[in-house]
Amino acid sequence: MPEDESFIHHLLSQMTLEEKIGQLNLESPDLAFDPEMIRQGKVGALLNASGALTGQVTGQQGSVETVNHFQRLAQESRLKIPLLIGRDVIHGYRTIFPIPLAQAAAFDPAMSQAAAAVAAREATVEGIKWTFAPMLDIARDPRWGRIAEGNGEDPLLGSRLAEALVRGFQGKDMARPDKLVACAKHYVGYGAAEGGRDYESGEIAEPTLRDVYLPPFESAVRAGVGTVMSAFIDLNGVPATANRRLLTEVLRGEWGFEGFVVSDWESVAELIYHGVAGDRAHAAALALHAGVDMDMVSRAYLDTLAESVRQGRVPVAKIDEAVRRILRIKQRAGLFENPLTDPSRPARDLLTPSARQLARAFACQSMVLLKNEGDLLPLQGFRRILVAGPFVHARSELFGTWSPDGHAEDVTPLDEALRQVAPKGVSLRFAEYNDLALHLTHEADVVILLMGEHPIRSGENSNVSDLRLPPGQEEFIAAVAALGKPVVLVIFAGRPLAITRPVSQVQAVLYAWHPGIEGGAALGEVLFGLAAPGGRLPVTFPRATGQVPIYYNHKNSGRPLGRDGAFLTRYNDLISAPLFPFGYGLTYTTFAYASLRLSSDVLHDRLEVSAEVTNTGPRPGREVVQLYVRDLVGSLTRPVRELKDFQAVELQPGETRRVTFVLRPEQLAFTRADGTRGVEPGRFHVWIGPDSQRGLQGEFEYPFR
Ligand code: GLC
Repeated sequence: MPEDESFIHHLLSQMTLEEKIGQLNLESPDLAFDPEMIRQGKVGALLNASGALTGQVTGQQGSVETVNHFQRLAQESRLKIPLLIGRDVIHGYRTIFPIPLAQAAAFDPAMSQAAAAVAAREATVEGIKWTFAPMLDIARDPRWGRIAEGNGEDPLLGSRLAEALVRGFQGKDMARPDKLVACAKHYVGYGAAEGGRDYESGEIAEPTLRDVYLPPFESAVRAGVGTVMSAFIDLNGVPATANRRLLTEVLRGEWGFEGFVVSDWESVAELIYHGVAGDRAHAAALALHAGVDMDMVSRAYLDTLAESVRQGRVPVAKIDEAVRRILRIKQRAGLFENPLTDPSRPARDLLTPSARQLARAFACQSMVLLKNEGDLLPLQGFRRILVAGPFVHARSELFGTWSPDGHAEDVTPLDEALRQVAPKGVSLRFAEYNDLALHLTHEADVVILLMGEHPIRSGENSNVSDLRLPPGQEEFIAAVAALGKPVVLVIFAGRPLAITRPVSQVQAVLYAWHPGIEGGAALGEVLFGLAAPGGRLPVTFPRATGQVPIYYNHKNSGRPLGRDGAFLTRYNDLISAPLFPFGYGLTYTTFAYASLRLSSDVLHDRLEVSAEVTNTGPRPGREVVQLYVRDLVGSLTRPVRELKDFQAVELQPGETRRVTFVLRPEQLAFTRADGTRGVEPGRFHVWIGPDSQRGLQGEFEYPFR
């Protein structure tokens, strides 16, 4: 038996039933929690987060003294099993990076991995050893507030980022003092909550579940993620926390996941509300049987499992298996050797200049330029600039959702940041109030409007029924635009908003998401051309709320637009195309695609697909070159496009580079009509292009075998 398994086996053999069940119990100090429970061996892990506002509070601080105090209490328990201390370190700890959806817009897994590594280094300073991240939920409905926390609508982008984030948090050895145990969440299908209403039930057909929602979680498991969190959702009639097929047969049986599963907040006991459990004992037995090893704060395991074992309703072997998984992760996290955190670390590891630089670069690279009429941006030659809107003095508003350890005082107020970056001779005036702004517009050469949604409107339990800008903002933008000065609209948001009308009224639109601690300086660098906006949309932008759900990898239907005839899939009152498609984004130069080449017109083992990309503009630029395919005929209907790879290239003005992708048969696999996964022979279209609607098109065949 491998050394670490024999250690676990020996420890388990010494544990009483109560001590075993204690390891399955995750407590939160924010609740009615008696630390004596730790000494009594009734707590396996602590969740250091405020359930109150689901992560919307900032400046709330854990502390290494508190954590070490709890670990010392565990050392006083009979078997001295260390606690696993968890926290929602979603997109930074003290150095708050752009929200995950913004990071996805950068299409830069390496940068996401680097940011996760910084987050791990900072969070471990204060005794955190487990983060409830990465959030991997595919989201096709921007009404859902948690779209902000994920990687958008595409399974390939989501899978690449899943792997990068797990590697960033955990490194090669999660026992290192600056590494965290990661948690792939929320398994699975949470983003399909009906109506975009958080916690609602959802229906996902098996092929879509397999081909769209599960791949990022599989990538996280292949990358060695230590834990997985079960979702709140009732998926196809089975609550995720009671879904044995997904939690055990798929996660462990098919993918070989070795870590442990933790439920989401109280979702074990919530099986009663779902109506699949009659009481807490039934809920606990269901969840444990399904494959949930640790119960987050509902205490259904702690309160009922011992009696259920005694009554023969729950086999102790099930409990032993869950305990083994938890002890294994604690051991891999190095907690048995080093349960305490060195309190002398903070100064050098928190908020370092290099962390701030990374945060600023990430913010620039995640901002998406949606419109730039007459190359208004970057601003040049304007002497009098008016900056107006509710974000002019923004500090912690730039953090976005799930930034409990961000400190507002760490953020340079946005107006000050813009002043620091603005070129000499440029006069900036700021107006937070609409009437003042309208008055000052007459004296300005150009107006920058800082609009969008406060982070409180984003994240968990923060859904909207109307995707337009918050009340009053559209009217204000229209009033300013009517005065005839050039207008740059900057939008801070945690989701795609239906900005159709404002976009038509202004000359330039820059989507800044919630850009994090360095968001002000990054915005200044982008507006004044010290940096170029590097983002491409990780999610489709609807024209109106009524278009939702709308996403690029949709099916063709039998009456697609463009087909002959009048009875086609469309609205009577709106064109069907999205406002902006997945993958779209402008920058401060332009690119041309030419000379598509395929190494063959038949794919056997590999097929090289390449095109020349030229920077045809006046400035250096970064282009995210995207590769899409379409399976023209399948045993099930197939998406009109699927992203299969992407490469970012930096090109100087006039520079041309041939960008080459390699396609292999396994990349064309999908869940077929018989439920198996594989590639079907036939013809495929392939594109290399700048987004999910354009590109150079070719064709190849995958032959009958
Ligand atoms: C919340 C969220 C989950 C988070 C957990 C702990 O309700 O659903 O993402 O990690 O509880 O804060």
